[in-house]
Amino acid sequence: MPLVGGKELLDRAERGGYAVAGFNVSNVELALGVIDAAEARRAPILLQFNPSNIEHFGGIEVAGATARALAQASDAPVAVHLDHGPDITLLRAACQTGFTSLMFDGSTTPIDRNIQDTRLAGALAIEYGVAIEAELGHVGGREPGVATSESVLTDPAAARRFVDETQVDSLAISVGTAHGLAGNVDVALVRELRAATRGLPLVLHGGSGVEPNALRDCVRAGVRKLNVSTEIHAAFTQAVAGASGSDPRPALRDARNAVAAAASLRIDALGSALRA
Ligand code: 13P
Repeated sequence: MPLVGGKELLDRAERGGYAVAGFNVSNVELALGVIDAAEARRAPILLQFNPSNIEHFGGIEVAGATARALAQASDAPVAVHLDHGPDITLLRAACQTGFTSLMFDGSTTPIDRNIQDTRLAGALAIEYGVAIEAELGHVGGREPGVATSESVLTDPAAARRFVDETQVDSLAISVGTAHGLAGNVDVALVRELRAATRGLPLVLHGGSGVEPNALRDCVRAGVRKLNVSTEIHAAFTQAVAGASGSDPRPALRDARNAVAAAASLRIDALGSALRA
């Protein structure tokens, strides 16, 4: 199965009434682990990189080339996604290195500015034929390499204006989750946002620690993509914690397997197994 477009994954999730997992990876074993999970569960996934992940990977060109090669070698449909893109320069570099999906994150700026910047990001996405996700409201919390911040819930009327004026492919919403922390999801607000945005695919950030039943409710309410970082990074860290000796490969193999196990649980809760 080749590298696929982010839009194609979202369209298929919309038609099938499930959500795809977007896994943030910061090294090759994490990437291999989530792809193992996608292949074992026969699920589509997004391999995601935020700016901190990209830096750790050795820069956008190395991250992009590695992710594309891994996607192309995989049996599962894999999109390569830029998470929390802060500016057009990084978005353009991602397009040039073969990312098939972008997020522009203007969620900490006032709505008028967020709309204006997201429109520019959307024009770039059209130029390169890739998907564009934006964020309104703000999902706060703590993620390694990303500043800690407070959440601001997404307002449905503002969401309607935002999607009408930006024409994004998907919208990241703030409904109680937080990066790195389990949050209580306000499923009624997800439903309201889905109606306000006229059925736009919604994206839930802060996917780690959210109860599987709450995730299933979110999917029924219109979430079509879930971002997961902390859980798979924690699985990796725990697996390598006791490593010793001169050969890191046994511990890295354990870490890859632990990541695959954690990723599989999220895939199953989203209903995306057997959708490849
Ligand atoms: P978690 O760290 O809670 O899984 O959130 C990840 C995320 O939303 C990345 O954008």
